[in-house]
Amino acid sequence: MQTLHELATRLKQARRILVLTGAGISAESGIATFRDAQTGLWSRFRPEDLATPAAFQRDPALVWRWYAWRREQIAQAQPNAAHIALAELARRTSLTLVTQNVDDLHQRAGSTGVIALHGAIARTVCSVTGREISPVWLAANPGEPPRSPHHDRGLARPGVVWFGEELPAEALTAAQAAARGCDVVLAIGTSALVYPAAGLPALAQQHGAWFAEINPQPTPLTSAADLAIVQTAGYAMPAVLDAWENR
Ligand code: OAD
Repeated sequence: MQTLHELATRLKQARRILVLTGAGISAESGIATFRDAQTGLWSRFRPEDLATPAAFQRDPALVWRWYAWRREQIAQAQPNAAHIALAELARRTSLTLVTQNVDDLHQRAGSTGVIALHGAIARTVCSVTGREISPVWLAANPGEPPRSPHHDRGLARPGVVWFGEELPAEALTAAQAAARGCDVVLAIGTSALVYPAAGLPALAQQHGAWFAEINPQPTPLTSAADLAIVQTAGYAMPAVLDAWENR
């Protein structure tokens, strides 16, 4: 409990906070993470079959159906106590929320201005031009996947970032600026294995920020953290908000 109070104190004293979230923050909403043993998606599926441009070229239907299955699960999930506590916290302080998650649970919990580094699973784009394809057009043009309305050789594809692809430049630039400008950085529920997202806490530290991590398991960043809270996000974040309110 003391560590949660320490985090609340640091957050309250901070002028600018950066929070980086990963799949772990949505785990308690029932959405599988990627790398947890047994339950993680990458323990059951191979990323090179499903989450690369080459995989989509090889078997677009397989990739399309896998994302449709995940989109369905996400649509049925609800934000959990951690998403809600973060949105509450942002109403009390200057907080930039950067997520690697492609679900929309932060936004549905009430967070605004979320920087989504890996895109959004609810979006569909043209595989050639990257232009958005509207849900209305998709409903009228079924297919697995349908051809893109924006380019002769294009297909509809999920609006997420795959391995080997660049992150959206604007989002990355904004996240890195927030890292350079914050005085507290908090990483929640990320294995910190995928760059450039995983580099944000170190970037913030290089610019003088204090760094805390919330994760039930150690990560490559844990030893560099000023405070490691070895709890789930759904337990820790409401407790931090509570400590913020009552200290
Ligand atoms: P990972 O699946 O790699 O890591 C999830 C982390 O969440 C692990 O460190 C777990 O210990 C932790 N965790 C599990 N349950 C938790 C809970 N209830 N509360 C807090 N933490 C919990 O997910 P990411 O780090 O998000 O990329 O993965 C990064 C990227 O790799 C993803 O965005 C995705 C994936 O391949 C793309 O799709 C481009």
